[in-house]
Amino acid sequence: MWRIFLLSLTMGTIHAQYEPNWKSLDTRPLPSWFDEAKIGVFIHWGVYSVPSVASEWFWNFWQTNSSQEITEYIENNFPPGFTYQEFAKDFTAELLNVTRWVDIFIKSGAKYVILTSKHHEGFSLWPSKYSYSWNAKDLGPHRDIVEELGEAVRKSNLTYGLYHSLFEWYHPLFLADQANNFTTQTFVDNKIMLEMKELVNRYQPLILWSDGSIAATDTYWKSTEFIAWLYNESPVKDFVVTNDRWGDGVVCKHGDFYTCDDRYDPGTLQNKKWENALTIDKKSWGFRRNAALEDYMTPLELLTVVVRTVSCGGNVLINVGPTKDGVITPIFEERLSQLGDWLEINGEAIYNSKPWTFQNDSLNSDVWYTTRDNTVYAINLDWPQDNDVILGSVIDLFKSTNTTVALLGNEGTLKWTLQSDRVVIQLPNKAIVKSVTAWVLKVIAF
Ligand SMILES: *[C@@H]1O[C@H](CO)[C@@H](O)[C@H](O)[C@H]1NC(C)=O
Ligand SMILES: *[C@@H]1O[C@H](CO)[C@@H](O)[C@H](O)[C@H]1NC(C)=O
Ligand SMILES: *[C@@H]1O[C@H](CO)[C@@H](O)[C@H](O)[C@H]1NC(C)=O
Ligand SMILES: *[C@@H]1O[C@H](CO)[C@@H](O)[C@H](O)[C@H]1NC(C)=O
Ligand SMILES: *[C@@H]1O[C@H](CO)[C@@H](O)[C@H](O)[C@H]1NC(C)=O
Ligand SMILES: *[C@@H]1O[C@H](CO)[C@@H](O)[C@H](O)[C@H]1NC(C)=O
Repeated sequence: MWRIFLLSLTMGTIHAQYEPNWKSLDTRPLPSWFDEAKIGVFIHWGVYSVPSVASEWFWNFWQTNSSQEITEYIENNFPPGFTYQEFAKDFTAELLNVTRWVDIFIKSGAKYVILTSKHHEGFSLWPSKYSYSWNAKDLGPHRDIVEELGEAVRKSNLTYGLYHSLFEWYHPLFLADQANNFTTQTFVDNKIMLEMKELVNRYQPLILWSDGSIAATDTYWKSTEFIAWLYNESPVKDFVVTNDRWGDGVVCKHGDFYTCDDRYDPGTLQNKKWENALTIDKKSWGFRRNAALEDYMTPLELLTVVVRTVSCGGNVLINVGPTKDGVITPIFEERLSQLGDWLEINGEAIYNSKPWTFQNDSLNSDVWYTTRDNTVYAINLDWPQDNDVILGSVIDLFKSTNTTVALLGNEGTLKWTLQSDRVVIQLPNKAIVKSVTAWVLKVIAF
């Protein structure tokens, strides 16, 4: 009896729902908005956007001599003794118009936006108490970018999320802990914990997208302690979601959703919510002035990844890299708006959808499935030559003569015939179809 009494007293006073261990944290149900949203935009923006050569890993590649392109760029253009920090004054953002950015994101059909609040270089896009004189308020634009963008994103009904890197390549406290084989946690105790709480308390992101964890274990990062705070006490505790990049051995194993590797795209149904973070510029997350046209994903490449990902239970997080002056260049804008145009017609197969019994068709490798409200959507990535599309995996749905099939964006229903192992659906003439890059059959079975 005493034990029962004590237990209820404890539960009544502490309200601690989740304990700081994965076993407990992993029991948290995923806030439903995240799975319903399906599509987000990722923004990589920082001091690396100034040289905008090679990659957002510019500083590290330079210091470790691992990119000839960077070594030559520095040698040819800067005096000996030039430091990475000197780039920060040119991170000007003078053309940044967050309203315009948000317009671009809305037109893409994305439902959430995630900004790199601080990448591995350690430069924070907000005036952090814990990043004295290495932030966007003290240097460069002299603006609180995290605040400005957050305000515009919230006004628009998009959901705001923040990326945050745990490790910083050259922070002296991090390097000291590393030299001690992470037996000390000075960096975590005096910077990372405090800065993450500052970020969450001040800007209230509904996604905290952690990165840069693999240098050390979750024990070093005190990840479970932090996430327990996030779930139990933080101002966003009821709706926040966080990913899996919380320490060596944790990635792809714990968190509200898994990101595993960059551009994670398993092509099969996963039993845990996951997200495919990818870049429109296939070679870099940060802006590259010298990117070639062929380095950017084509509209069909982007759609294919979106469709395959959603069909297999994932979300897509599509990255753009703005320029140092704050511009999202037209090629990124175009890709995003092409996706938005497609979603305008075909979004009912994507948003709020669930994976179906089959993800891809057994006879037709261009077809991926989703389902929603007793309807099955067959998303096609190629138009058949003779206007007849063949599907294998759906034949059971066509055993009733009352089943209807329609093409999203077009009027009326389509004729179909059931054969032994397939159904053949007669498409309208391609010329009158609104969306041909990828198109969706809506199958309602009775
Ligand atoms: C990179 O190259 C420079 C110049 O050759 C050298 O001084 C430095 O030690 C090298 N750094 C590493 C990490 O190899
Ligand atoms: C910012 O962008 C919005 C939307 O495109 C536009 O209406 C507004 O005039 C812009 N503001 C400035 C200062 O250019
Ligand atoms: C935001 O969503 C609310 C509720 O769904 C809606 O009434 C409002 O018009 C939306 N605002 C914008 C700017 O889309
Ligand atoms: C860290 O680990 C390495 C390899 O196990 C060892 O050689 C080194 O002495 C350790 N350093 C400290 C400070 O413990
Ligand atoms: C599609 O599904 C089949 C099983 O029907 C599987 O063997 C195949 O690898 C999948 N194709 C793709 C492109 O994922
Ligand atoms: C098909 O629809 C007709 C008319 O609504 C109905 O009488 C019949 O039972 C339905 N057949 C099936 C297999 O549901």
